[in-house]
Amino acid sequence: MTKTLTRRDWLRQSGLVLGGSIVAASGALATPIKVKNYKKIRTPIRMMFNENPYGPSKIARMVMTKAFDEGSLYAHNGALVELKKILADKEGVTPDHIIIGSGSREVLNVTALHYLYNGGEVVANYPGYETLNRYAENLGAKVHRIRVMGDMSPDLAKLEQAVNSNTKLINICNPNNPTGVAIGAKLLEPFCRKMESKCLVFVDEAYNDYVMDPGYRSMNYLVKEGLNVMVTRTFSKIHALAGIRVGYGVAKPEIIRNLESKITGTVNILGLRAAMASLDDESFQKSSREKNIEAKEIVYDILNKTGRQYAKSEGNFIFFHTGKPIKEFKENMERKGIIVGRPFPPFDDWCRLSMARPNEMYKFKTAFQKTMS
Ligand SMILES: Cc1ncc(COP(=O)(O)O)c(C=O)c1O
Repeated sequence: MTKTLTRRDWLRQSGLVLGGSIVAASGALATPIKVKNYKKIRTPIRMMFNENPYGPSKIARMVMTKAFDEGSLYAHNGALVELKKILADKEGVTPDHIIIGSGSREVLNVTALHYLYNGGEVVANYPGYETLNRYAENLGAKVHRIRVMGDMSPDLAKLEQAVNSNTKLINICNPNNPTGVAIGAKLLEPFCRKMESKCLVFVDEAYNDYVMDPGYRSMNYLVKEGLNVMVTRTFSKIHALAGIRVGYGVAKPEIIRNLESKITGTVNILGLRAAMASLDDESFQKSSREKNIEAKEIVYDILNKTGRQYAKSEGNFIFFHTGKPIKEFKENMERKGIIVGRPFPPFDDWCRLSMARPNEMYKFKTAFQKTMS
């Protein structure tokens, strides 16, 4: 339900008015603002952007409220440095190996900008996460998209073959979005070691925290060894801070310096504090991970029972064969109150379904059965 609140109501309900002084100082009290009831935010049910439906965690919310106190201060010498240090410890590197961006998207874009503004080529797994590729194309770079193999995993041999003297970077997403498949370290590590002398090996690890496959490993240890490898992470997934916008990259200091010289913004204080708090809140991460597994089991069960082909996912989404054009399937599901993922050509009869809460997955089950019957 949408309700009209005055700014005064908003401040009162947030518990942030102290003695009425903030309200008294405002010159625009009568300006109506519209806010949505929180539960309505998830209606229709969102299964399209790989968001985490459980957060932000309570601790992150509390810390963000408190962070308003710091709202008048620039954060680049304070909280930004603090978060860099925490992330460096977590990744086993020094802080000069870390770049923090407004979501990992900013880090992806700035990487494309640095490596490709003078032309050059990208070799990318396809379908994969396209942000960096598209930014590169907008700069005039050429992107070689290498189709995944039959099991939906990246075709490392073909990626290698596509590299030439103009290639500036190889873009791999692991686990891959939209297929959900993760490449194990046994395959990816030798690939990185072999290719890093030719160009930057860029590994987008946005879904790293959801992975259960024991053969998977972040490639951060190759960065620590000083190789020409970069990994990126985000607070948008397991930390459920997609709307707050915090992400980071890990690479050797000379790369980080180059990228930072091109970054266009800084993360706001709420995001920095929320990220620090959320990293500490291991029980929130654990419960998000467990509920994600529960949601995936519900979907696997439906797909197994209906004989639908799917890729085993290490992320918070599942890519499955609809057997009908995704546009048609998507419209059909939307009429039933569920938004599913967009088309991912050339897999035009496949759907990327983001995991929602288990009760919402049961609603998906009913809608899916009606749509497929
Ligand atoms: C693989 C991958 N990388 C990066 C991003 C960007 O995330 P953000 O900019 O929210 O950190 C996403 C978002 O869905 C993603 O799926």
